Amino acid sequence: MLKFDFENSLAFLGDNNVFNYIEENEETLKQLFSEKKEDKEQFFGWFNVEKWKTQELIVKMKQKSQEICEKADVFVLIGVGGSNNGARSLIKALAKESKVEVLYAGNNLSSNAICELLDKLKGKSVYMNIIAKNFETLEPGLSFRILRRFMWEQYGDDIAERVIVTGTEGSPLHRLADENGYMFLPFPKDIGGRFSVLSPVGLFPSAAAGIDIEEILYGAMEMERELKGISFRANPAVIYAVIRHLLEERGFAMEFLSFFEPDLEYFSKWWVQLFAESEGKNHKGLYPVACSFSEDLHSVGQYIQSGKRNLAELFLHVENVAKNYRVHPDIKITDGFDYLDYMEVKMINDIAFRATVQAHTSGSVPCNIITVSKLTPYYFGQLFYFFQFTCYISGMFNAVNPFDQPGVEAYKSEMFKLLKKYD
Ligand code: PA5
Repeated sequence: MLKFDFENSLAFLGDNNVFNYIEENEETLKQLFSEKKEDKEQFFGWFNVEKWKTQELIVKMKQKSQEICEKADVFVLIGVGGSNNGARSLIKALAKESKVEVLYAGNNLSSNAICELLDKLKGKSVYMNIIAKNFETLEPGLSFRILRRFMWEQYGDDIAERVIVTGTEGSPLHRLADENGYMFLPFPKDIGGRFSVLSPVGLFPSAAAGIDIEEILYGAMEMERELKGISFRANPAVIYAVIRHLLEERGFAMEFLSFFEPDLEYFSKWWVQLFAESEGKNHKGLYPVACSFSEDLHSVGQYIQSGKRNLAELFLHVENVAKNYRVHPDIKITDGFDYLDYMEVKMINDIAFRATVQAHTSGSVPCNIITVSKLTPYYFGQLFYFFQFTCYISGMFNAVNPFDQPGVEAYKSEMFKLLKKYD
């Protein structure tokens, strides 16, 4: 199970403040944990992992993904925001040796990017998965149109077996899939994009890249059981949400997710989206920032250590790595690094991690630490569920709806006016 160490934040906030807040808000917490969600029903599909773990759906996803693993050179994932961040974070970390190359489209409007993608697809066996909850989003809509044309040119009528559509049941995208014989997977109606990684949205592309999706779900379910079965005072998601809330009340403005394994880079993008889009409302919310250490210690690290004192940090520490390397002595060249002789690179990285926590703490940054044993589908499942749960509670403490994103509509309506969509 993932571990959450918050001792350092208690030193900033005072133990009493954190645990008193939990006691004072016990009734609210009971409601937040209640399985009955009344009017908010449409947002809570993620709350019970089991709900979307039907055998039928798993079998359907596994069968198609097996075909992809056998026949495809390239799998193109078309989607943006919650429709691709979860799967991409898993694939980038866990499927580096996959035989099927996963490429991404529909997450920008760059002409260069789409042309480069088309060039890469030439002569390859291509499958693609378009994922959109609301099939009005411009980026995936545009890319899907361009890539469909490419696929028609390559495969003619055989295109049908190579296109997988993940959308809302009954939506225009669902109709489009049915009319053209594309395989359809449900984007749960009761789950918003950034909470959807444990549904077919995150699972199917991961399976296509060869990742064990049942392990992801198993990890998430264990996390769910832990969070729902433990007292509020001992509950890591509750404590973390309360700490975030109290820090914000005391004027903290930013939270950094800092990690020392580059494999977490895309996971950190998922995390940034989750908290930014869920909590950045009504002029509230900690601004989430991702930091890939030790690289970013040589840039942003300066600010964390000595800039404005309004930031907190959450370290995501990985205890074990799949591949380790021991430094060999160099008897021929004197380079000043002999103190590293025989050390494992993992150990050096761990020392950098511990030193950074120490330095940032003494620079008056509240540092919390989440530790996972290793980066596997199981632990990703735990992390996804843990952060979704925390974000939900934290948003509620801030009196914002963590599940909508009205602010995102502003740029869209300006853009659609300029594109004369409704003329
Ligand atoms: O979290 C969200 O709801 C958003 O980030 C959406 O996932 C994103 O805007 C993409 O939406 P759609 O799947 O409708 O294209």
